[in-house]
Amino acid sequence: MNLILLGPPGAGKGTQAKRLQDRYGVVQISTGDMLRAEVTAGSEIGREAGAVMRAGKLVSDDILIRMLSARITQPDCARGFLLDGFPRTVPQAEALDRMLAEKALRLDMVIELQVDDAALVERIAGRYTCAKCGAGYHDTFQRPKVEGVCDACASHEFTRRADDNRDTVVARLEAYHRQTAPILPHYAAQGKLQSVDGMAEIDAVTAQLNAVLDRVPA
Ligand code: AP5
Ligand code: MG
Repeated sequence: MNLILLGPPGAGKGTQAKRLQDRYGVVQISTGDMLRAEVTAGSEIGREAGAVMRAGKLVSDDILIRMLSARITQPDCARGFLLDGFPRTVPQAEALDRMLAEKALRLDMVIELQVDDAALVERIAGRYTCAKCGAGYHDTFQRPKVEGVCDACASHEFTRRADDNRDTVVARLEAYHRQTAPILPHYAAQGKLQSVDGMAEIDAVTAQLNAVLDRVPA
């Protein structure tokens, strides 16, 4: 199954992608995580992308299309992939159509997580992740079972993202509405768009996604 998970910053794409990965065996491809790895590595892409990400703007289509094209040809994607954070512009969506056609791959579904802007700032401001295994948490909505200890790997170290501050979130939301939301009609026209209520609690959103995806023919 090849899927796209769309939604504004903080909508829950990463949270839900990890769960869908476990249930459906698809590989989560998060372009945000890939770019953050480049920043940490200090690569040429990372140096160019880091400043753009800290400003809450979108990194160039050219870089993202090359990165994604290289990633989906890797062997682990053969059993299906879930794109988290790509495409984010109309040129990226068109490039993805071409990539999939060239590789004779089918896109099964595009799922939009719908969340009110007002809820997103609180979600992003409270987010943190395990520094060792990357498991995601939230100060209010998703606390570890034992305070200060990662549920998944028992690490005591956590990190917060450089772009998770109120000013940057406003810029990221603006970029979403101006540059990313226009790709929704692109997929609606292909008959592939499904919208899910992302305002519900985390487990309830997962249940909605499972209900939608269980109907996709294998
Ligand atoms: P990226 O890493 O993709 O960030 P984003 O789209 O801004 O989305 P987030 O990761 O912030 O949110 P999410 O939807 O994954 O939410 P999460 O599950 O963590 O991109 C970062 C940057 O990289 C971009 O700004 C851009 O510069 C660049 N970039 C990346 N891809 C690009 C591309 N294709 N083109 C150009 N540039 C690109 O949840 C958030 C928090 O809320 C968590 O703490 C979670 O616990 C909590 N939460 C989740 N669901 C719920 C719920 N239902 N109720 C309550 N709390 C919840
Ligand atoms: Mg994410």
